[in-house]
Amino acid sequence: MIPRMETRVMEVDPLEDCRSVYKEAAGVLAEGGLVAIPTETVYGLGADALNTEAVANVFAVKARPSFDPLICHFAKAKDIKDYTEVPAELQPLVDKLAKEFWPGPMTLVLPRKPIIPDIVTSGLPTVACRVPSHEVMRGVARALEHPIAAPSANRFGHISPTSAQAVVKELGGSIPLVLDAGACSEGLESTILMPCLDEKGKPAVRLLREGPVTREKLRGICRVLKPGKGKAAEEVLPNAPGQLKSHYAPAKPLILWNPREEFTPEEGVSYGLISYEGESALAQQECWTEVMPLSPGSGRLAEAAVRLFAVMRAMDENDEVQVIVAEELPETGLGCAMMDRLRRAAAKREEA
Ligand code: TXA
Ligand code: MG
Repeated sequence: MIPRMETRVMEVDPLEDCRSVYKEAAGVLAEGGLVAIPTETVYGLGADALNTEAVANVFAVKARPSFDPLICHFAKAKDIKDYTEVPAELQPLVDKLAKEFWPGPMTLVLPRKPIIPDIVTSGLPTVACRVPSHEVMRGVARALEHPIAAPSANRFGHISPTSAQAVVKELGGSIPLVLDAGACSEGLESTILMPCLDEKGKPAVRLLREGPVTREKLRGICRVLKPGKGKAAEEVLPNAPGQLKSHYAPAKPLILWNPREEFTPEEGVSYGLISYEGESALAQQECWTEVMPLSPGSGRLAEAAVRLFAVMRAMDENDEVQVIVAEELPETGLGCAMMDRLRRAAAKREEA
């Protein structure tokens, strides 16, 4: 049983001097407490990565299975070398990726040193590392002087929170502190890459989770392999739920639909539509109780990404809507990561 407690929400504005807030949050973490902390992607549920009891508590509070490893957040890329053992043949590629995308929404899965507790990595020989661009997560990690292990601050399998209010809805009453810096600027979880050697022994990356660092952005930097390709893939890949078919799911059923095809509603069921621009033939149909556009009018993928989880959450909370229909999005750039999340949300229904 998770003890019930009062959840304090502290507002923090990274444009002001936040050192006292960072110090206070780091104090809670240093005592083994959990703190929900904003990043540019989604809010994370942070624990001191070197405190096994605190990390165990993260799994308990989220009801997360122990085989799903956590991401460690660092204040600076330079700090990562104390916790990882990158093979010499991969170091130049790791340096290049770090220079290009850190601080930012990229996570690198790297061989770990023993200082990282087994519980963080679900016993894997690797640890997922990220230097976020959000000043608040980095500020707290700097004040703690340890990496912060933080999964998304939602209950396992639910929609990731992109605001402090969403965190409170997910975990209020079971954690002591939430830092509120407003909405997340990316809105989708980080891209997860595992640097590796390809079949020819050349440095490449395996794309473990699509995210804001898109395939297009990686082009010209290195070859991108699908999970399971390249040397010794089986040994190093976890059975990780971020990669489970059903994940990131609203409580209500979600159906993915081609916006150019007509939708036939079932008698007596009320439907809400998540529409890309809000102007498709599908959106004009009369059958919707509610239509929520992701990027009204102009259809910008970056805007849709920022809003996707908040809109999914709003549809889930709307009592008038029983079934959510989401338009398929263009599968270029950020559209790939969004379609990945929508497919997993829809898979829950197929599995049920
Ligand atoms: O943007 C993000 O990545 C957010 C913020 C808070 O940083 N975090 C996040 O964490 O999305 P989470 O726990 O929801 O997803 C972490 C995923 C795992 O499900 C797993 O797929 C992958 O990271 N992962 C972690 N450690 C790994 C490892 N050693 N090898 C392979 N995959 C790993
Ligand atoms: Mg998650």
